[in-house]
This record gives sequence, structure tokens and C-alpha cells, in this order.
Amino acid sequence: MTDALLANSDLMSAYAEAEERFWAANPNSFAAHEAAVAAMPGGNTRTVIHYAPFPLAFARGEGSRLWDADGHELVDFLGEYTAGIYGHNNPAIEAAIETALKDGIVLGGPNLMEARFATAVVDRFPALELVRFTNSGTEANLMAISSARTFTGREKVMVFDGGYHGGVFYFAGPSPLNAPFPFLKATYNDIEGTRTMIREAGEELACVILEPMMGSSGCIPASVEFLAMIHEETKKAGALMILDEVMTSRLSPGGLHGKYGITPDMLSLGKYVGGGMTFGAFGGRADIMSNFDPRREGAWPHAGTFNNNILTMSAGIAGLTQLYTPEAAANLNAMGDGYRGRLNAVAEKSGLPVQITGIGSMNTVHFRSGPIDRPYVDAVANKLRDLMHLDMIDGGIYHARRGMMNLSLPMTSSDIDAGVAAFENFIEGRAGVIERSLE
Ligand SMILES: Cc1ncc(COP(=O)(O)O)c(C=O)c1O
Repeated sequence: MTDALLANSDLMSAYAEAEERFWAANPNSFAAHEAAVAAMPGGNTRTVIHYAPFPLAFARGEGSRLWDADGHELVDFLGEYTAGIYGHNNPAIEAAIETALKDGIVLGGPNLMEARFATAVVDRFPALELVRFTNSGTEANLMAISSARTFTGREKVMVFDGGYHGGVFYFAGPSPLNAPFPFLKATYNDIEGTRTMIREAGEELACVILEPMMGSSGCIPASVEFLAMIHEETKKAGALMILDEVMTSRLSPGGLHGKYGITPDMLSLGKYVGGGMTFGAFGGRADIMSNFDPRREGAWPHAGTFNNNILTMSAGIAGLTQLYTPEAAANLNAMGDGYRGRLNAVAEKSGLPVQITGIGSMNTVHFRSGPIDRPYVDAVANKLRDLMHLDMIDGGIYHARRGMMNLSLPMTSSDIDAGVAAFENFIEGRAGVIERSLE
């Protein structure tokens, strides 16, 4: 269906009605949005959290729950786009931050937490022989790619169509703001096509960067064969394989690379690993990372005022060592597999072309039948997701507008039941609209 036809369909009327209901229910969120518009473009400082007609503004969170500016209580299935694995105000994280605050922040030198945190991170993820911290996943990828280009003395960077690696690495459409590297865009999960491209790029190729499951683009897992091929071909080409596990490192105790036994040359991390504080990290092979050793003649510089900020270091230690232990990771992902199974059972029962993809605690709803092994563009599916988003909010469930649902540690079986029930209500209540719009 084209956008023009979509505009006249009953999907659009259903959506318009849902928006009206949303306007009526959320006057305080609207007021917050209006105030924000005065000082920020579109009232926004982070594109992904904007949606029509205006985003809910949040007053507070507790455990797995959120309260918006109009006092509605919602189960938080967004989980801060995977960074919120510990839920809201976890006591161990709070205690770590309070201690750090009491002892002073911005100390201006190495502190007593960063080595402990680095050790916990290196011990956890097999690809990391040495690690350095940044303030975001975007910055981690920028440093990883720049390191790969410098280490290999080569220019080109292979990425995948639909991929996302941060604000300056957006490949799901044109972006005028992308980092000015010569990118080669391959197709995710296309083993032979990608192999050929790597071989053709040959000695010009510095690195291939990818997620082992595309997160933002729809929780689309890479096949292990695809990852193994990239591992093998980059080695042959003398290029580096960078795995971006900013989101996916939570999907097994040692990240997805640990689970699959595929060790990239470099790894980037972000999100939950910093205990909910601002965080990023990049690292990998010691022969690459030791170029940052400042005791060395000609060492690569890597600055960052807040790279070792004590709040992140302290919260991160508490998170990885006390809360998201290997056992907790296994349990949360088992809970996520169960949740996805129940949502897929609802979708299957409806007979509609709806499915949920993902691994463990990260899942995305798709309005599409057949295997999904790469990102796609579909205006009708996007509008159905918009409708589902507003309907689920009405049913007390908050998730990402693009259909993504992430679990967090404080979630209970009744939260999971609430998520399944809201999805079932949506599928049953909107079956006619879904069916007609996908005909
Ligand atoms: C796979 C991936 N890489 C990198 C980033 C960027 O991380 P940050 O938002 O911390 O810059 C994200 C953020 O969503 C991501 O999903």
C-alpha cells in the first residue's frame, strides 16, 4: 500500500482515534512537550524518544514500573532501549552511587574504582583482552573503527544495510550526519554476497562492523554461519571484525560472541554495562589496544573527561558483579524466551501475519509473515506499530514505538502476564484493521 492509499484506509482512522484518546489522557505530558519545544528543536534532545502526537513525559520509576506526568502507571517494557536492565532505583546501584557521591566526583585522576570495573568487564566478555571506557556506545564505535583504520592502515569500513551503531552511524536510510568514513554497505545475513564484497574490497578494507543481532532494526539475529564467515574472511583479508554488542552483550553471560564462540578482533559495549549511568567501552586484542598505552613512544591518544567517571565506574561494578551475574543473565534471557513464545502463540492463534523476533530478553513485533533475516521498509507495518504503541500504552504497557520490548531484572511473572494480555487485547481488538491493511 502506498502512503497515499494508507492515508485513506481504516488503519488511519483507527490511528487517528487512538491519537485522540492519547491527547485526552495526557494533558500534562503535552504541557511538558510544549515547554520543551521552546528550548529544544521539536522539544527533543534524543531523536528516538520522540513520537507522534507527542511523547509521554515521565515523572518517576520504581522497579519495573513507570509513572508518567499524568499519573498513569505503566509496566516498563522499553527498559531504556536495553540500558535499563536493573529497573528503576535498584538498591545496590543506589548504594554504589551514593558512596561515590559522598567521596567526591570529578577527582581529576585515576580513581579506585576504574581498575575494578575494567577487570569485571574484561573477565566477563571473552573478546576483551584490554578495554577502554567512553561515555556512549556511539563514541565506543567511533574509537573502535578509528582504531581499526589506524591499526590496518586502511580506509574502508563495511557496514550492513539497516544497521545502527550510534548517532553518526545510521544506515537505515540516508543520514547527512554520518561520520565521514568510506562505508561499504552489505546485506545482513547474506553470506555469499558479503563474502564477495569482503574479497573484492581486499587490501582496502579496514574493518567490518556489525551487531550479532540487529537491535534497533528489529531484533533480527545473524546466523552463526554468517558471523563465522565474517570472522574467517576478515582474517584472510587482513581486516578487523568489530562486533557491536552495545545492546546484545546482555543476551548471554559472555555476550552473543561468548555464546557462539566467535571472538571478534574488537568489541564495543554500552547501555546497561554502566549500571544505568552514561557508558560506552571498546576493546579487544591486546596487540591492537596496547597502542593506547601512554607509556609507549608514539601511543595513540584517547581523551575523554568523563571516561573514568566515578558514578559510572561504581554503578557498573555493582551491576555486573552483584546484579547481572552470569546466573541472572541466564534467568532473564530464559524469561524473555518464554515471553516471546507466548506473544508468538497469540499471533499464531490469530492467523494474522504477525510475529515476534528476538533472542532472550530483547524482542520486536513485526507485522509480516515469513522468515525475517534482514531489515525491511514497510509503511503499513510501521503504522500498525504506531497504533499498537498507543493501544498498549492505553493498556498500561510502555514499549518502543518501533515494536521493541525489553525485559528487566525486577520484572515478575505478573508483569509478563500483563504484557501478554495487552498484546492479546491489541491483536483481538484490532484484528480486522490488521487483516485489511495487510491484504
Ligand atoms: C547497537 C548499538 N550501537 C551503538 C549505539 C549507540 O549507543 P549510545 O546511544 O550510547 O551512543 C546503540 C544505541 O542504541 C546501539 O543500539
